[in-house]
Amino acid sequence: MNITMLGAGSFGTGMSKHLADLGHNILMWTIDKEQSESINNNGRNTFCFRDTILPKSIKCTLDMDQALNHSDRVIMAIPTQFEREVCQKVAKSGKKDIHMLNLAKGIEISTGSLLHKVHEEECPENIYSALSGPSHAEEVLIGCPTAVALASFHEGEAAIWQKILTGNNFRVYTADDVIGLEVGGATKNIYAVAAGISKAMSLGDNALAAIACRGLAEIMRFGKKLGASPMTFSGLAGVGDLMVTCYSMHSRNFRLGLAVGSGKTLDEAAKELGQVAEGAYTVRAVIENSKKFDVEMPLAEGVYRILYANESPEKILRELFSRPLKAEQLF
Ligand SMILES: NC(=O)c1ccc[n+]([C@@H]2O[C@H](COP(=O)([O-])OP(=O)(O)OC[C@H]3O[C@@H](n4cnc5c(N)ncnc54)[C@H](O)[C@@H]3O)[C@@H](O)[C@H]2O)c1
Repeated sequence: MNITMLGAGSFGTGMSKHLADLGHNILMWTIDKEQSESINNNGRNTFCFRDTILPKSIKCTLDMDQALNHSDRVIMAIPTQFEREVCQKVAKSGKKDIHMLNLAKGIEISTGSLLHKVHEEECPENIYSALSGPSHAEEVLIGCPTAVALASFHEGEAAIWQKILTGNNFRVYTADDVIGLEVGGATKNIYAVAAGISKAMSLGDNALAAIACRGLAEIMRFGKKLGASPMTFSGLAGVGDLMVTCYSMHSRNFRLGLAVGSGKTLDEAAKELGQVAEGAYTVRAVIENSKKFDVEMPLAEGVYRILYANESPEKILRELFSRPLKAEQLF
């Protein structure tokens, strides 16, 4: 079938390759002329995975109307802070009843909103779904076995996307908790930054496991306040994504943490990375929201203070370990 992919970055490209291998015809949309021409003329994405020759069934356009006329099944893989801007372009096209599957993982800083809310405000007539779970673009691109979760507010919609996306090495589980999927996908990036910092400080495997586990407790508490079911976080979009992000050099957020933990400022670390690490933005939105909803998130707050208040990781570590003793409480 025809499928439109909005965004030609790492994940948009990885997923397009996966879908093309399944026999779908993909039209990607980008704002980068050179990138579009290169994909169309020689099957190479100039932005990422330059060594990969993309199948001929992947084409690219700069024209949003053309992209949306290609299919009413549209997938969006855009960094969170630009999601509203792209939604507005989609709305401007006037095309109605688009089946929109969102792959982004983050929270909009300016509003503190989860992404389904941004879509609801900008494109209320679209039929919205979200996909989340452990899915490094690098691995999806080359067909490594991957399992993800997909949820929609619309009856039967998740099952339709499940059939479209599933392949021999890509397994989609339907879920019924859009909010949980979005909270899990967004917040795990914060703990990946913490994991990278901990690795740079050589704190050991125990510390890494403590970050993942106590991070999960913070995600559960935060998600519950936003209306998610805490059990969702024991699945692919919670524990699954947290593990893959906190333990892998593929993770930009982990690498950002490594650089910051080695003494670089956030600006220096972001420049070195050269790509968007969503966790650095998400932590700002999460800290705002955690204050508003009175949710205790000491690890997220520690990451925030290291990134934005120039406090040293050593000081934050000392503070975390001198907090009042208590019972382990998950949510
Ligand atoms: N990379 C992964 O492994 C992965 C996996 C799962 C989910 N995600 C999520 O998918 C989203 C996209 O990530 P990515 O890794 O593909 O990002 P990326 O930085 O590799 O690429 C993003 C793409 O968006 C485009 N873009 C940037 N600003 C834009 C704007 N204002 N208007 C239109 N297009 C714009 C860029 O040109 C680029 O093509 C993120 O939310 C990320 O968390 C990524």
